[in-house]
Amino acid sequence: MRTQTAEFPDPSSSAGEPTIITIDGPAASGKSTIGHAVADALNYLFFDTGVMYRAVTRAALDRGVNVHDADALARLAETIDIDIAPPTPDQDDGRQSTILVAGEDVTWSIRAPEVDQNVSIVAANPRVRQALSAKQRTIGQRYGSGQAEKPGIVMVGRDIGTVVLPEAGLKIYMDASAEERARRRLLDLEARGKAVDYQQVLADIIARDRMDSERDHSPLRPAGDAVIIDTSHMTPAEVVAAVVDLVRQAGS
Ligand code: DC
Repeated sequence: MRTQTAEFPDPSSSAGEPTIITIDGPAASGKSTIGHAVADALNYLFFDTGVMYRAVTRAALDRGVNVHDADALARLAETIDIDIAPPTPDQDDGRQSTILVAGEDVTWSIRAPEVDQNVSIVAANPRVRQALSAKQRTIGQRYGSGQAEKPGIVMVGRDIGTVVLPEAGLKIYMDASAEERARRRLLDLEARGKAVDYQQVLADIIARDRMDSERDHSPLRPAGDAVIIDTSHMTPAEVVAAVVDLVRQAGS
């Protein structure tokens, strides 16, 4: 695990508010919805790091790379060209960002069931993690410095507060019961016209939680100084307000 260095001290804006906000937590805990809304409220960049693990998984499946072949998978992650861009006005289909792999739009195909089923294997590969976290850290430091197009960044994932950006000024760990998360995921999938079974969605979420928190490298867990928010009985608006309050408090 990296530690804070003098070169990269805990960054904060001129108002004293944290310019790097990390949100970690299990699948479907609301990290992306909340992270995106918080970033909008603060005019910060929103970056969901899960899309990078998904993009590598999509590319492996499309290019015939066996996800159990650790070396081949690592080489793919080390060389892959992943780009993330804001949606253009004609891409009005509910996307938060456009995800490109070698120029191809994979925004929706990285959400396919075969990616869900394989992404935890990809995310457990230490060389894949090393390659992707280095890219994430560079982006986080650039936006956290306040020198980029936006005054700060909200970065969402599993290990952002613990490994990628431990110097972040505000770390949130977002949780909710597995049943509530399955219910939310079901609504999401139904809204996208997918017919799914609640028990299956719940079983997938529990399996993914287990793989993400029991893996050897950067397992899912709250940072020692993270604020833990259980969103099971909260509306998205309440969670956003709570996080924005924490940002303001940290700056006062
Ligand atoms: O948040 P998500 O469901 O899109 O994440 C996809 C997978 O990537 C999930 O299995 C956890 C993994 N992941 C990770 O290990 N570290 C991150 N920083 C982000 C996601």
